[in-house]
Formats: sequence, structure tokens, C-alpha cells
Amino acid sequence: MPSPINVEDFRELARRRLPRRLFDYIDGGAEDERGLRRNREAFDRFTFLPRRLVDVSTRDAATQLLGRSVAAPLAIAPTGLNGLIWPHGDIALARAAQRAGIPFVMSTASNVSLERLAAEAGGDLWFQLYVLHRDLADDLVERAVRAGYRTLVVTVDVTLNGKRERDMRNGFALPLRYTPRVVLDAVRHPRWTYALLRAGGVPSLENIASGSKSNVQAKAALLRRQMDASFAWEDLRRLRDRWPHRLIVKGILRADDAARSIEFGADGVVLSNHGARQLDDAVAPLDVLTPVKNACAGRGAIMMDSGVRRGSDVVKAVALGADAVLLGRATLYGLAAAGEAGALHVIDIVKDEIDRTLAMLGCRTIADLSPGHLLAAGARMADRGAPWTAAVAPNADSDAIFDAPQR
Ligand code: FNR
Repeated sequence: MPSPINVEDFRELARRRLPRRLFDYIDGGAEDERGLRRNREAFDRFTFLPRRLVDVSTRDAATQLLGRSVAAPLAIAPTGLNGLIWPHGDIALARAAQRAGIPFVMSTASNVSLERLAAEAGGDLWFQLYVLHRDLADDLVERAVRAGYRTLVVTVDVTLNGKRERDMRNGFALPLRYTPRVVLDAVRHPRWTYALLRAGGVPSLENIASGSKSNVQAKAALLRRQMDASFAWEDLRRLRDRWPHRLIVKGILRADDAARSIEFGADGVVLSNHGARQLDDAVAPLDVLTPVKNACAGRGAIMMDSGVRRGSDVVKAVALGADAVLLGRATLYGLAAAGEAGALHVIDIVKDEIDRTLAMLGCRTIADLSPGHLLAAGARMADRGAPWTAAVAPNADSDAIFDAPQR
């Protein structure tokens, strides 16, 4: 394959390098995978309304996120088992993010410990918390404070695991078992297998394995990959009290939940349907950006993810009010293809596409973007009363079009 020029090319490289079951674990969604398509279609429904005759000879995609400068409105999303994709994959992703000038979010289910990541990778490191078990969560929060993390992302959309049918069919589950099919798959992907063996074999979930207080019950919960489904608003308040720095709630899909997260002391939210890996028919985050923005009224940072594959997707999300966008699979495909260099290459492609889109829209900076640069898909959608349709108005050049009352 000639050198990759877009995220889809990296997806193809990842498909070739990884054993089938591992590629499916990354690439797949829940149940019928309608959500995967819906996340993409949400972006397709918006087209651009470029402004002409603007001097765009100098442009800058840099912006502020949670009080810090970022080179572009991007961050790398938390993903578990990165060490299976590439040796020490968490460190590779964090270094790519640092080189690109964007934050990296480390998953609870990472394959290096949060302490090791903080010691070996610089840059803006965030820690993502899964509440598998309260003792374990308290322990992780204390450790993250001690290790110097300044941003905690609590994921609230995994009350239990999504029904990922590719994984079920492939028998992809923790702990990984060496069945004849697994071994055959490995033999067919020698580059991946060799790299894994050189790095010491199948990596463990280091944040849990290295936990000082993690008890037997907590470890059992982890092995079953079962979350504490009783985690609710009062627990978020308790977490807010324990965590002294920035707190972000990830997995929000409703304006009232977003506003409530801020009222409970969160500094921001990530609108996400977990990349369509949880509830197949969950709304696409892009479709709730406008009501969430209105409900939060500038009181906290609004980020989104799920389905972002192009710089133009990022521009659409920012135009609709997102402060930043998280890249999930996009950077994982880069990691799978070529480690840190591959992930960085993906970010560079997305940044370049953001820059081109800004230029062609007549925008010099991220701050120039507004809903007035977008036109939502047609009136036929409006008849169905879908949330994005209120945007369609005769004077599409006005920022007010997205504030129009819904039919
Ligand atoms: C995820 N995601 C995720 N989220 C989280 O909060 N903690 C985690 O450990 C994981 N693990 C994980 C593994 C893999 C393989 C994927 C693809 C995703 C969800 C992730 O943070 C993000 O929300 C989605 O990936 C965004 O969708 P796209 O960009 O992948 O379409």
C-alpha cells in the first residue's frame, strides 16, 4: 500500500497488521453496529457555508482547553489494552500526543501503570477512571493525585459492557486464552506476534495489578470487566470532593445531564456514545451538541467524540460549540500501523485537514468558527422532528439558525 494519506488508509494498515480478533476489538461496535454508521452520518448531514474574500494567508488551529494551550482542539481518547496493539502502546500514544501538543487520556484499563506513564511520558496527561469497585476507584484517584495528574475523566456510560458481537464470536475476552484459533491468528500476523513476544507477551492491566489497596473482590470485578452499576449522582459529588483538580464527566448524551454534571462541580463533559460500543441506538454526540451548549451556557468545557475521522469533522463539532474533540479509533489505527510515529502521523493528517478546512471556510482561527458556517441536512429530516433539523432556516448565514425552536 502506498503511504497513507487519511485515517481510512491507517485503518486498512491496522487491519493487515493485527490479528483479526484484535482488529475487531478496536473496530467493532455494539450489536448491529448501526451506531457506528450513525456517528458518521451525523457528520455527513452538515455541509459547509464558506465565507469568501477573507484574508486567510496566516492561520492557527491552536486554542485553549481547560485553561491550557493546545496546538489544535484535539485530545487522544482513553482506550484500554493499548499494549496489545503496540508494545507499551500507552506510552507511544502519550508521546505522540505530547509531540503534537495535545492531551493524552490514559485509560483505567491501560497496560502501563499511571505512575510509569507519568514518569516516562511528558505532556498533558489526563487519567480516565472506571468505577469498577469503589475501593479500587478511591485507590486509583489517590494514586493519580500523587503521580501529578491534573485532569480526571470519569466515564459514566459503561454501567455494564456493551454487547459487542464481533468480540463474542471471536471469543475475545479477558484473560486472553491461547486457543488453536488464537495461535493460528498470531502465526498469520508475524510482525505483531514478534513485537508482542519481544515486549514480554500479553500485557496485564497494570493500573489494577500494581494497586496497593486493590482487594480480591475488586480484582474479581475487574476480571469480569464488570462496573459498579450503582454509581450515581451522589457518588459523582463524592468523587468531586476527593479529587482536587479538574474533573470531566465522559459519556454524557443529554443536555440535562450535562448541566447537572457542571452543577455537581465538573469542569466539563465529553459528549460520547463510547464510539458506538455500548448502546447501539444511542444518539450521535454531534446531534446533541447544540442543546448541550445552550444548557451549559459557557459554564464548563464541552468536548465530544465518536466517529471523528477527518479534520472537517473536528471543524463541524467546533463550529457547533465543542471546545475540543477526542480521537479514539483514529489514533489507534495509527498506533497499530506504526506505533508512536503512526499515531503522530494520524494527528498530523487531522491537523492538516483542520487547517485546510479553516482556510477554505474563510477562518483564520478556531475562534472564528460558528454555527453560521454550517448548513444542516434537508427539510425532509425536519418533518421527522429530529434534533438537528431546527437548524434549517432560509438565512443559513446567521448564527441564530441553530437556536431556532424545534418543530
Ligand atoms: C474505547 N473507549 C474507552 N473509553 C473509556 O472511557 N475508557 C476505556 O478504557 C475505553 N476503551 C476503549 C477501547 C477501544 C478499543 C475503543 C475503540 C474505545 C471509548 C473511547 O474513549 C472513545 O469514546 C471512542 O473511541 C470514540 O469513538 P471513535 O473516535 O473511536 O469513533
